[in-house]
Amino acid sequence: MTSRTTIPLIDERRAARSPSTALTLSPLLPLLPATGLLGDQLGRPLHDLRISVTDRCNFRCSYCMPKEVFNKDYPYLPHAALLSFEEITRLAGVFARHGVRKIRLTGGEPLLRKNLEQLVAQLAALQSVDGQPLDLTLTTNGSLLARKAQALRDAGLQRVTVSLDGLDDAVFRSMNDVDFPVRDVLTGIEAAQRAGFGPVKVNMVVKRGTNDQQILPMARHFRGTGVVLRFIEYMDVGATNGWRMDEVMPSSEVVARVNAELPLLPLSPSSLGETAARWGYARPDGTHDTAAGEIGVISSVTQAFCHDCNRARLSTEGQLYLCLFASQGHDLRSLLRSGATDAQLASAIAHIWQGRDDRYSELRASMPADSGTGARRVEMSYIGG
Ligand code: GTP
Ligand code: 5AD
Ligand code: SF4
Ligand code: SF4
Repeated sequence: MTSRTTIPLIDERRAARSPSTALTLSPLLPLLPATGLLGDQLGRPLHDLRISVTDRCNFRCSYCMPKEVFNKDYPYLPHAALLSFEEITRLAGVFARHGVRKIRLTGGEPLLRKNLEQLVAQLAALQSVDGQPLDLTLTTNGSLLARKAQALRDAGLQRVTVSLDGLDDAVFRSMNDVDFPVRDVLTGIEAAQRAGFGPVKVNMVVKRGTNDQQILPMARHFRGTGVVLRFIEYMDVGATNGWRMDEVMPSSEVVARVNAELPLLPLSPSSLGETAARWGYARPDGTHDTAAGEIGVISSVTQAFCHDCNRARLSTEGQLYLCLFASQGHDLRSLLRSGATDAQLASAIAHIWQGRDDRYSELRASMPADSGTGARRVEMSYIGG
């Protein structure tokens, strides 16, 4: 855990997005129908679809959109490049017929997209292959949540996850790098709870030496509130955040720190392919204190979970990515705008997913430090977290 692997800060303004593979409707490829039973090269089903609705954000977290790169000259997507709500809903419907059961709206900051509740209402009307409503959720930095929570809930959003990297105002203001106060995010979280989202989750990216002192205050604050707090290992996503291995705090250390003051016990996963390992607060007799609740740890660096990764990602401009660390997308927007039928879209998605063999985090774990990881990766603010 002491290697000094570093991703340098790179100014990517001229090469902001990664290349995509052109999708053509080749008569040589068989037309694959949506059966709800799609498997990739490693036998992993397609279960989650994460949709980025904007590549913009009003925060500049250094681990995601460092100010030096994401400045006023950064080439954000023009409006015409964005998928419209109708296009997103149509693609989401095709994905649902392929077996997708969970949709997460992300960004950038998704609440910056105008009238997002309209899209939520459209997506809430979709069903899974077995006729169930989809698990419809959203990741937000919380800055606009107090204003929008009720409208999103009314539109049919079921859950929200709020990013918050600490309770200390100075630490948080410096991490979001736009001087945004903790209080306003907490107000957003409270509004989400009042609006009936359940459970509200809070994601904290832990950077050793930057906010690891916030682990215990965060645990104390959210224990017993119904909020599920999750600690995320700082990842080497994108190509701009200057990632260093020595700033990653392994989840095992996070759990040990919390457990030393607030005893924990391991809980079983609630679904296959879950990102977080769950830990419950323990009563003195060693059983789970359900009123105190639980925390989660997401260990994508020290304990990769690619083996059952069932997540597809749709970028703001309709590129399909098969991995958070991919350097190439598949251009569904061109196909959509060329007049493809739903059956043709379904077939293209099936061919793409069946060819998937991505497992970046597992491969990185077995790579020597400083070996580099090949092609330039896509930014997380572009495909969503
Ligand atoms: P729930 O359904 O609420 O459990 O959501 P989730 O954990 O699937 O999604 P969420 O967006 O809350 O994920 C939390 C964090 O885990 C993200 O912000 C990423 O940092 C990380 N993460 C999510 N999915 C992946 C993935 O497929 N690969 C890797 N390496 N990290 C991921
Ligand atoms: N490492 C881990 N998680 C990250 N996120 C963004 N950048 C990183 C990174 N480098 C995730 C965080 C944040 C969400 C929007 O994206 O979970 O809450
Ligand atoms: Fe914005 Fe979230 Fe990225 Fe921070 S982590 S810059 S809030 S998209
Ligand atoms: Fe999935 Fe790629 Fe993350 Fe592995 S690194 S869990 S394959 S998104």
